[in-house]
Amino acid sequence: MRREDNELLTRVGPGTLMGGLIREYWMPALRSDELVVDGEPIRLRLLGENLVAFRSTNGQVGLLDHRCPHRCASLFFGRNEEGGLRCVYHGWKFDVNGQCVDMPGEPPESDFKNKVRTRSYPCLERSGLVWAYLGPREEPPPLPVLEASMLSEEVRMIQPVMRACNWLQALEGDIDTSHFGFLHMGSAIPDDFNEGTTAKYYLADRAPKYEVVASASGTMYGAFRPAEEDSYYWRVAQFLFPFWTMPPAGKIEGHVIVRAWVPIDDENTMFWNLSRKRKSGSSPVPTSASGRSPTGLSLGFDYLPNTTDWLGRWRLAANQNNDYRIDRGVQDDGSYSGIQGVHLQDQAITESMGPISDRTHERLGSSDQMIIQTRRRLIEVARALHDQGSIPPGVDNPEVYDRVRGGEMVLPRKTDWRATYEEKRKSF
Ligand code: FES
Ligand SMILES: [Fe+2]
Repeated sequence: MRREDNELLTRVGPGTLMGGLIREYWMPALRSDELVVDGEPIRLRLLGENLVAFRSTNGQVGLLDHRCPHRCASLFFGRNEEGGLRCVYHGWKFDVNGQCVDMPGEPPESDFKNKVRTRSYPCLERSGLVWAYLGPREEPPPLPVLEASMLSEEVRMIQPVMRACNWLQALEGDIDTSHFGFLHMGSAIPDDFNEGTTAKYYLADRAPKYEVVASASGTMYGAFRPAEEDSYYWRVAQFLFPFWTMPPAGKIEGHVIVRAWVPIDDENTMFWNLSRKRKSGSSPVPTSASGRSPTGLSLGFDYLPNTTDWLGRWRLAANQNNDYRIDRGVQDDGSYSGIQGVHLQDQAITESMGPISDRTHERLGSSDQMIIQTRRRLIEVARALHDQGSIPPGVDNPEVYDRVRGGEMVLPRKTDWRATYEEKRKSF
């Protein structure tokens, strides 16, 4: 990759091409329960912008530049009062729209407060998530129609995790099916799995063939290898603009999951795992009756306590400071990596590439087609927006996300996988 292209793909601050592309879309910002009515404001960095989020008296969420427009004191230290956030320096108060509503240090006859408005970004809430729009439009576009982001409280899971690296290398881990048979399953043997699971197919063949195609919402691949004599085992996964992925870790009929890789800044990413709760006892990686788990699976996240720092939310206790608690004994005689659980394995490996992976060093093989095509489309779409003002996929047509899924299918060998996938979609 050329250095310029790597820069284009990874820089997301104001004025960058990729930052411009992502700003066209709504993005997950906070869990709704992180903000309490008239409660503490939260430092929130998104796309390299330092913001402060608060929930006002009427329940509405405000997202403001953290700098007070008077003399730049941080509104993080503000008082969340009736109907607005008040800067503690000279008492200016701002409502959720950024309008200054009180300026107690100016003479009563002054109308200066009416002329002062600070930068604010629209927020919406749906299904337990606060969404933010940092884009240029006066009237923001609609929210994306993503199944897993529209679930009711009883069935949904919302799991954020801070990752200490650039958003794209984090995302690329999710569309790189080839690593599954190594990083997560490298020491698995057929005896680890109950009869009738699909695991035996990917254990028998760790070099599947791929078909990568452009879709209305992004890119998708089907990776296939032999299943039974007359069938193939397909793993289908999605990239959806601008930062969404759908992995193939379950039968496609029941696999309602989407994952966002939201850039906090150029070197940090908030991962949002949005999914339907699994039935208790079921796991994405099946284990045998003996209970041996070849990945050292852990479904929960072992979080550090949140702090008020810009990067202080949803960090894991196992992290780069303790080598993710790698156990070399387990690496010799247990899971392939010696790191506990699929998520942590991905976290460790993508962070190990450095804060922003230098892709000029890469040598890509045929198993990297999905990554190559996704990068190409991102560059293409970001350039088209910047140069011609072309509206990117999904912004004004959120239905392109409707009933898109990733997942597994076992199909007769002669079957067209894309036609079957499209057929199945209608029933989701
Ligand atoms: S800096 Fe905020 S009121 Fe003066
Ligand atoms: Fe992975």
